Amino acid sequence: MDRSAPPLSFLQATVMTSDRLGNSSAGHPSDAVFQKCLNPCCAATYDVIQVLTKCPNCGALLDICYDWNRLPVPRSLQELEAHWTRRWDPLRFSGVWRFYELLSFAPPEMVVTAGEGQTLLQRADTVAPYIGVDPGCCYLQYEGMNPSGSFKDNGMCAAFTHANLVGAKRAACASTGNTSASLAMYSSVTQRMRAIIFIGSGKISYGKLSQALEYGALTIQIAGDFDDAMGRVQEVAKELGIYLVNSVNPFRLEGQKTIMFRVLEALRWEIPDWIVVPGGNLGNSSSFGKAFLELKQLGLIDRMPRLAVINALGADTLFELVEHRGLKWNGGAPSLEIACHYYDELDAKGAKADTIASAIEIHRPVNLAKCLRALEACDGVVRRVSDQEILDAKAKVGAGGIGCEPASAASVAGARLLRQEGIIAPSDRVVCILTGHQLKDPTATVAYHTTDQQKFNEVLGSRGVSRASFANRSIAVPNDLDSIIRTLKLYT
Ligand code: F0G
Repeated sequence: MDRSAPPLSFLQATVMTSDRLGNSSAGHPSDAVFQKCLNPCCAATYDVIQVLTKCPNCGALLDICYDWNRLPVPRSLQELEAHWTRRWDPLRFSGVWRFYELLSFAPPEMVVTAGEGQTLLQRADTVAPYIGVDPGCCYLQYEGMNPSGSFKDNGMCAAFTHANLVGAKRAACASTGNTSASLAMYSSVTQRMRAIIFIGSGKISYGKLSQALEYGALTIQIAGDFDDAMGRVQEVAKELGIYLVNSVNPFRLEGQKTIMFRVLEALRWEIPDWIVVPGGNLGNSSSFGKAFLELKQLGLIDRMPRLAVINALGADTLFELVEHRGLKWNGGAPSLEIACHYYDELDAKGAKADTIASAIEIHRPVNLAKCLRALEACDGVVRRVSDQEILDAKAKVGAGGIGCEPASAASVAGARLLRQEGIIAPSDRVVCILTGHQLKDPTATVAYHTTDQQKFNEVLGSRGVSRASFANRSIAVPNDLDSIIRTLKLYT
């Protein structure tokens, strides 16, 4: 061991030396990984060190592609486990980079980690009856356990690794909260990048805003919602050459693939029947589809799980386009004019996305085309759920000991709906992705459990939520010992 090497803490973003991964950049043919246009008619390829968010040739999204024959990939998924005894090594500790072989777009010495991805797939027998599946069939993948409190860290460490590779000095995102907290955290942890975040005014939760401010991000509030901020940040990033870390950045999605690898790992490499995920900008669903397609291509799995993407009722673009207007991947030639037409209709009506699940309050999902591919690959379905269903599901998840934010609970509400429709069978093994931590949005949680009708109406009533069937209400008692004891006897 090199005793002169400084000790590494897990919350210190780490640039690794090649021997730590038992790999080396010399053995990593850089042209074995490249960026490729998603549109099969174009299929233009670009070097990994180019900073692109769409194909310069045709404007489609980009994928990261691997020439697997030239890369050291495992022969079985179990083989990956051999590395995991190296818990002292931040890169093998990371729940993203311990799958390095399946996302090796950068040499190991460029990899950035902050200990992300230590997340749990929890068998949730208290939630199973709510969804309507058999005991042992409901699993919750809790991504709120990430360092900045959401699944975004999976993708952000990958984007920062790429940014490190290209020497970027400023990074920007539009956000409803989680992306900005993650960007701000990695910027301050690495001390290599100035973070710039664009938020719609009044459209970010205090929990998340507090993170971005404390981590030192430059915070720009624009008059508008997430869709407006997303449009602007893309223009600004292009104009000023700022590195963009929203999920149009294809490297982000490489990190998010590992959520699925961890699900499989926890199921001892068995494929569940269903993956159910909330849909906003559709980065997760896209990356999950890509993860399974690649594992299949590598012969590491023999079947695909089914994918269910769940929109909120007030932000249901994907549902509308796929389930009502017949938009499909169509072998790589989706009729995206159907989407353009729909967006024109929304604009003509002045319609804005509106849901308590702020993280998925998005009308123009940037990864639409990639998500269509994932839906086709995984025989997917799309559903939408109301804010009432989301909050009831969230209360059920919370009562089982996991605190998630409203957007996350859309997955559980969606699984319940699919079970009621008979699409999910009682014996199906269902994995719901809980994308973010409960502490993002305590206002919604407290309003659901409150005894104060005015507060309830103010926060939730205005969104069509009329009851709190699973509320755990606090009890007001006088400051008097006898009253307190009487109350406790009554309730315990
Ligand atoms: N769940 C949570 C907790 C999120 O923060 C987001 C997106 C999503 C789901 C949607 O995921 O885009 O992969 O479909 N949050 C973005 C943000 C908008 O700014 O943090 P997707």
